[in-house]
Amino acid sequence: MARTLKDYPLVALKPEDLDGKIDFVRIFGRSGPVHIEIGTGKATFLLNEAMAQPHANFFGIERARRYYRYAVDRIGRWGLKNIRIIRTDAVFFLTDFVPDDSVDCFHIYFPDPWPKKRHHKRRFICPANLEHLIRCLKIGGQLKIATDHANYFEVIKMVLAARNETLQKIAFLPTAGANAGEWVGTNFERKYIKNQRQIYTLAVTKK
Ligand SMILES: C[S@@+](CC[C@H](N)C(=O)[O-])C[C@H]1O[C@@H](n2cnc3c(N)ncnc32)[C@H](O)[C@@H]1O
Repeated sequence: MARTLKDYPLVALKPEDLDGKIDFVRIFGRSGPVHIEIGTGKATFLLNEAMAQPHANFFGIERARRYYRYAVDRIGRWGLKNIRIIRTDAVFFLTDFVPDDSVDCFHIYFPDPWPKKRHHKRRFICPANLEHLIRCLKIGGQLKIATDHANYFEVIKMVLAARNETLQKIAFLPTAGANAGEWVGTNFERKYIKNQRQIYTLAVTKK
């Protein structure tokens, strides 16, 4: 029988409660490095990384209700105090709510590849959205990306390379929840490794 998913209001922020640019110190009740994951899925990355880095603050954005509810329930049950999550569209959230120079690291793991050509315009990583990410990053902040989709990866590399006066490539270090042979240890990465798909990663820092 499916487990009943619980809501945890301290973990889950509601877009309707936000008013203008957010103050991460207020949201987490303390200062600390701010990490944002875009498209958390079931929050496996957030949970493992937040446990490994208790001094840092982790913020997840997930659009799909099903994943969001699952993630909230898991975060609440794990009882970690340094995670918040919101159910909304990341472009809308970055544009309206994330202040300039406020984020230490963006994590984007297995963004929807939208493989059909006519759907490419729906891909999250594109020049316009990269401008939002750059604006929100602190100097020295990082953007980490992983995908299994070779074509999308080529596009991502081109989109980032077009801003190479601002972004510098750095080594992609595996995340805390990654097992041997994994980069990020998320549900999608595990599924793709099982299917023997190649995983591509890229990390840059804002100069
Ligand atoms: C392929 S899944 C990957 C989930 C997780 N990162 C993983 O690796 O297991 C992509 C996720 O991004 C979410 N997503 C896609 N576009 C989004 C957007 N614009 N804003 C917020 N979430 C988004 C989807 O709902 C989905 O849960």
